Amino acid sequence: MKRNFSNEFTWPIQDPEVKQALDRAYNDGDWGRYAGSNCANLQKELGDYFSVEQVRLCSSGTIAVEIALRAAGVSSGDEVLLAAYDFPGNFRCIESVGATPVLVDVDSNTWSMSTNDLESAFTDKTKACIVSHLHGGIAPIKRIVDIAHRTGAVVIEDICQCPGAMVDCDTDWHDNLPAQPTTPETVRQGKKLGTIGDIATLSFGGSKLLTAGRGGAVITNNSTFHQRATIFCDRGNDTFPLSELQAAVLIPQLKKLDKKNRQRLDASRALLDTLSQVNAANSIKSKSIKVDRHHAPAFYKIPIAIQSDDPSRKQTIIDLLQSQNIKIDHGFRGFTKRSKRRCRLHGDCQHATTLAAQTMVLHHPCLLSDNFPEIVDTIAEVLTTSLDNI
Ligand SMILES: Cc1ncc(COP(=O)(O)O)c(C=O)c1O
Repeated sequence: MKRNFSNEFTWPIQDPEVKQALDRAYNDGDWGRYAGSNCANLQKELGDYFSVEQVRLCSSGTIAVEIALRAAGVSSGDEVLLAAYDFPGNFRCIESVGATPVLVDVDSNTWSMSTNDLESAFTDKTKACIVSHLHGGIAPIKRIVDIAHRTGAVVIEDICQCPGAMVDCDTDWHDNLPAQPTTPETVRQGKKLGTIGDIATLSFGGSKLLTAGRGGAVITNNSTFHQRATIFCDRGNDTFPLSELQAAVLIPQLKKLDKKNRQRLDASRALLDTLSQVNAANSIKSKSIKVDRHHAPAFYKIPIAIQSDDPSRKQTIIDLLQSQNIKIDHGFRGFTKRSKRRCRLHGDCQHATTLAAQTMVLHHPCLLSDNFPEIVDTIAEVLTTSLDNI
């Protein structure tokens, strides 16, 4: 029997504290001001949360990426590395500052930039590298920073999909989980994603884990980058502003982010465990999640790759799930088919091409629903029946 799961995907969820924040902004008149208290408070809260010195609020995650590129000094004639499977706006941002995107492959276990052969992608034209942590994956950011810094390139971490995720830089989570921690628990340290590269970008778009309908931020500890961002954005007034009302609704959400991320993580693990056991397990690929108190991804989209050469299989599964109002859709299209006049491909980027063809992504709101176990069962059932005879 078909179920209707539309309520499980409602976003944002109603939160009385968000309502109170809006009322407060209404009562004190901040809603109509250029420089009320809410933007200043949000800047401070984000600075404290990420332990960074500089926070620039802005109007979207996309413009945050362009601001970060300009802050890094990227301009015409430069090259910028990015994963060949990524948010399309990141490619456009590189073009909009006059630079050339250089596509590197992804790791098919993390959906994020791989370090295989990465070193040789850097040339003397490479000014920066955009690293997006995608679909609950964590790119090997420490290794990427080490490689980039050897050549003087700036690392821009795109954490639009994963605010609050933690990485344990002392353990190599990208290979096998070590039987014993390589260093004692007390010495190992988790760091928030977005604080390992040189500058990072956040999105507060309507579907995001922290939402104000629209909005974004750029965070960094580099005062030169911050100053360049300010010079680019300020044209007598802030050109890409976040409003007082948007800032007001974000503050209570930020305070709850860690708790909600934990809930989403537990639910994601339950789904991925179930998927690894369904009959169709050989035909799908998702993630194994490694978690401890120093290392925890954050899930905005949960990826499932349908390992079939026939693209109609994925479409059939998406159609079946969508008919029950499960919000699952195609992943990114990737860039490997883009004109070679617009970008340079480093290697064959085969994993990115394959993932772009095979990936579908489940939208996060259901992870917080009490009915999530039923969604897991439905997804497992649809996959089993659709993929049995691949
Ligand atoms: C990885 C990534 N970067 C950047 C963005 C852009 O954010 P915005 O929609 O706020 O412009 C998104 C949006 O989905 C994203 O997923």
